[in-house]
Formats: sequence, C-alpha cells, structure tokens
Amino acid sequence: MTIGRVQSPRIIRIGGGVAAETAEVLIQLGLSKPLIVTDQNLVEIGHVAKVTNVLDTAGIAYGVFDGVIEDPTDACLDEGLAVLRAGDYDCVIGLGGGSPMDTAKAISFMSVNPGHVRDYKAPTQIDRCGPPTILIPTTGGTGSELTRWCVITDTVKTEKYNLSGLAAVATAAIIDWEFTITKPWRITADTAVDSLTHAMEAYVSRRAFAYTDAFALSAMPLIAKHVRAACMDGSNTKAREGLMLAASQAGMAFSNASVALVHGMSRPIGAHFHVAHGLSNAMLLPAVTEFSVTHAQSRYADCARVMEMATSSDSDAVACGKLVEGLRRLNDDLRVPAPSKQGLDEQRYFDTLQIMAEQALASGSPQNNPRVPTAEEIVRLYQDIW
Ligand SMILES: NC(=O)c1ccc[n+]([C@@H]2O[C@H](COP(=O)([O-])OP(=O)(O)OC[C@H]3O[C@@H](n4cnc5c(N)ncnc54)[C@H](O)[C@@H]3O)[C@@H](O)[C@H]2O)c1
Ligand SMILES: [Fe+2]
Repeated sequence: MTIGRVQSPRIIRIGGGVAAETAEVLIQLGLSKPLIVTDQNLVEIGHVAKVTNVLDTAGIAYGVFDGVIEDPTDACLDEGLAVLRAGDYDCVIGLGGGSPMDTAKAISFMSVNPGHVRDYKAPTQIDRCGPPTILIPTTGGTGSELTRWCVITDTVKTEKYNLSGLAAVATAAIIDWEFTITKPWRITADTAVDSLTHAMEAYVSRRAFAYTDAFALSAMPLIAKHVRAACMDGSNTKAREGLMLAASQAGMAFSNASVALVHGMSRPIGAHFHVAHGLSNAMLLPAVTEFSVTHAQSRYADCARVMEMATSSDSDAVACGKLVEGLRRLNDDLRVPAPSKQGLDEQRYFDTLQIMAEQALASGSPQNNPRVPTAEEIVRLYQDIW
C-alpha cells in the first residue's frame, strides 16, 4: 500500500472577490498586524490597495515591504527580514506571484531559524515555523499558496534552490482569480505553462499517489482548455477563473508528489540567465517529455487523453507521440522561443551546461522523473533545446 503524506494550509478561501475577506481571515486567526510582502508593479497596478483598503476598513494596522524582485534572492529576503524585525508585526501577508509569496514564506521562517537560507536547502525539512503566513496569489501559476516549497536564488553561488517543510506551508491561502485579469499576454502564457508542468510532473512523478493524481488530472484539462482563450482575451473571466483553479490544484498535486526533470532543469536556466520560470519550463517541456515517455507510457498517455490531445482509442504509444506534438503546438501558439532566440549568450550557455546539469541533479527533482537522467543526458537535453 502506498502511503501519501500531505501538508496544506489551515484555511483556504477561493473564488472571485474573496480577497475582500482578508481582514476576516486575520481576525479568525487572532492576528492584528501584518507585514504585506509584495512587488512594486503590484503596488502600481492597484492590487496592493485592494487588500490595504480592506484592512483600513477593518481598522487593522499593517506595514508594506514592496522590494521583492522576480526570482527573489537571498539579498531581497534579508531586506524584507530587516523590515519585519524593525516592526511589531505578528504575521506576514504574501501578495503577488510566486516571487512575493516565496519571499513572504522565507521572511517568516528565517525570522526564527538561525544562519543563512542556504543552510536549509532541500532535502532539509524546515519545520520550525515563524509568524503565520497568509498568501494571496495574483498570477495563478506557481500554486505556492498551497505548496510546502519556497524557491530562493543564492546570489553568491548563482543557484536557485528549493526550501521545503512545514514552515513553508501557508497558514491561510486566499485565492481570488480577479487579480489575474491584469496579467499581460506573456505572463498569462508563462504562468499557465508553469501550472501545466506542475500537474504533468506531479502525475508522472515516482512519488505520485491517488490523492495527488486527482488534483493533477483535474488541473491538466482546465489549463489545456483555457490557456489560449485567456491569452487571446485577457478579460475572459471563465478562462481566468479556470486557470486560477487549475494553478491551485496543480500546486496541491506537486507539493505532495514533487516535480521532476523539467523543473530540475528549469531552475538553473532561471538562476544563470534570468529567464522567467514558466518560460524556461515551456522551453523544456516538449523535449523532456519526449525523453521520458517510454518510461511511463500509460501515465503520459493519460495526460494526453485528459487534455484531448489523444483519444481513448489511441494506444498508449500513439497517445504519447500525440502528447509531445500537442506540447510543441502549444509552445508555437504561446510563442515560446528557444533559448537561442531569447537573447541568451551562446558561449556562456554552452560553457555553463555542465554546472547547470550538476545543479539540476543536486536539486533532487530529476530523481522523481520516470526516466532518471545522467548528467550527460541532461547536458544533451540542454543542447537540444538551444
Ligand atoms: N513555491 C513554489 O511552490 C513555487 C512553485 C513554482 C515556482 N515558484 C517560483 O515562483 C517564482 C515565479 O513566480 P510567478 O511566475 O508567479 O511570477 P513573479 O511573482 O515573479 O511575477 C512575475 C511578474 O508578474 C507581475 N504580476 C504578478 N501578478 C500580476 C497581475 N495580476 N497582473 C499583472 N502583472 C502581475 C509581477 O509584478 C512580476 O513583474 C519563481 O521564483 C519560481 O521559481 C515557486
Ligand atoms: Fe514551477
């Protein structure tokens, strides 16, 4: 019998307009002074005001740290930690995409765990929890609001690493798709492919089990159905709602079943070349799927069928071929460039492949892949997608 181990937030509120319940959630948890962790773009768009207006109305005092950068670094975390320590905050609200939410998690647990954040790299489990975290996603891609993962970039070692444990699980998640209406085309496409990769990798992962399968199998068709529509018409509320739901479900799936080779290889591209996380996943997804399908044919065939890229009358082998084709077509439609067309320096890319392969393997994610690659095979995959 497979034993599943699941960690998730104590409170999940989900639906259009639910951010208006932020004060209610704080009161339910007995909290009275949050530090809001976010980025400047979200202040400018007005998403931060949406939440602070609710707090103002409820008479709840708060502070704002809006210094989060994309792919947050240890330096950015330290800045936020200093702001937390300088005030009398009793909780942290992470408002934004994966970057602000992960920074909020790390600010919380590093306020009670000594040393540098790299001392806690996965597979270490960080179970000593800091002040409660309330996460409010605005991209609907990473699912970080429901996961036990947190991703921080080490500026000294140029490495993007996973941190994991109870201390990285939110106390409450408030999931309101209305924030996502303002996402531009590129961010819509990239964050949706990130969710799709979470769902697919969770489903084929060696650590998948029935509970995570249910979330993954629900998320994949939602993304396949809505991603193009949301990109073509950003105000398509049905598509936005579907993608946000799928992002959360995919988050629950991969948080507990883990991601695999795509994510293992994607993080080094992000750390060394600053390619958006979802975009580097997209660059890798068809090639890594093609590399892996033979080792879990029926699982990949299920993915193809639930996304209507193959039919029930197709054999598993045929369905796997159609899956790879379908993912390539999706990349074309979402205008996903190869790394060579994204402005990456060719010499530096090829010079860095060996270290990227080592970092990918060290992350532990490739070991969950149906086909576990060697470092040489990872290098070859990086070469193939160039
Ligand atoms: N913790 C996890 O479980 C987990 C999972 C996957 C990825 N990640 C990490 O999350 C980070 C990526 O997060 P992300 O993809 O959500 O992007 P992000 O948080 O880096 O944001 C990308 C850009 O989108 C903008 N943005 C956010 N919401 C918007 C909105 N509603 N409208 C318009 N613009 C908006 C931001 O201001 C920013 O400029 C990476 O560091 C990645 O490694 C974490
Ligand atoms: Fe991801």
